Amino acid sequence: MKRIVCKNYDELSRVAATYVARQIWEKPDTVLGLATGGTPIGLYANLAEMHRQNDLDFSKVVTFNLDEYYPIPKENRQSYDFFMWDNLFSHINISKENVHIPDGTAPDAELECAAYDKMLADIGGTDLQVLGIGVNGHIGFNEPADYLEFSTHKTSLTESTIAANARFFATPDEVPRHALTMGLGAIFSAKTILMLISGENKASVVKEMFSDRITPQNPASMLQLHPNVVVILDQAAAKLL
Ligand code: GLP
Repeated sequence: MKRIVCKNYDELSRVAATYVARQIWEKPDTVLGLATGGTPIGLYANLAEMHRQNDLDFSKVVTFNLDEYYPIPKENRQSYDFFMWDNLFSHINISKENVHIPDGTAPDAELECAAYDKMLADIGGTDLQVLGIGVNGHIGFNEPADYLEFSTHKTSLTESTIAANARFFATPDEVPRHALTMGLGAIFSAKTILMLISGENKASVVKEMFSDRITPQNPASMLQLHPNVVVILDQAAAKLL
């Protein structure tokens, strides 16, 4: 895995945006895998700015988000659908039909997940997958476990993830207990994985992720098996490396 250590969060966001923009310039019909959480907000702000200032063109770009809470309506401000429109899609010229996010209102989660995997497989996987990491090493919502799932699936959130994500909700009780998430198959379908990690609270999981132990108890450590991963960290997150 290639590592790029940046001075701080702003630099990390700019470097990440340059990566994504270069991909779109080289291949205007890029299939982008996208992530939510606090970390990619700076990247999305930079991309929106590049669209405004330099006409970075998203008209042919196709996106697949990693995950969505379940159940959750799209109008809920905490849904990942709302997050993506609010932070990125409303500020760029992407077509609505090119945006894919697992449907948090689907009556049948299993069918929804199978259809999501099929759409992604039909298009040939992602060209570039943006990833964050949970404090417990989760990627998407693939939580630490004895085994990880290949397919997109409905999953239960761990207590530590519910506690970490409670900061976005009025009370911890409002955090949905389930989510629909890409499995390792869809994540690994990416030609390139761009992982963004910021903050001292991620330093110990980052150390584990880069250690010689590849374990489903730290899902991010599995990325060592992918041939093309670029990890962009700030100095705080890289502190223990
Ligand atoms: C959520 C998302 C993950 C994300 C993680 C870290 O749980 N499902 O995809 O990586 O949050 O978020 P943050 O960047 O806010 O630390």
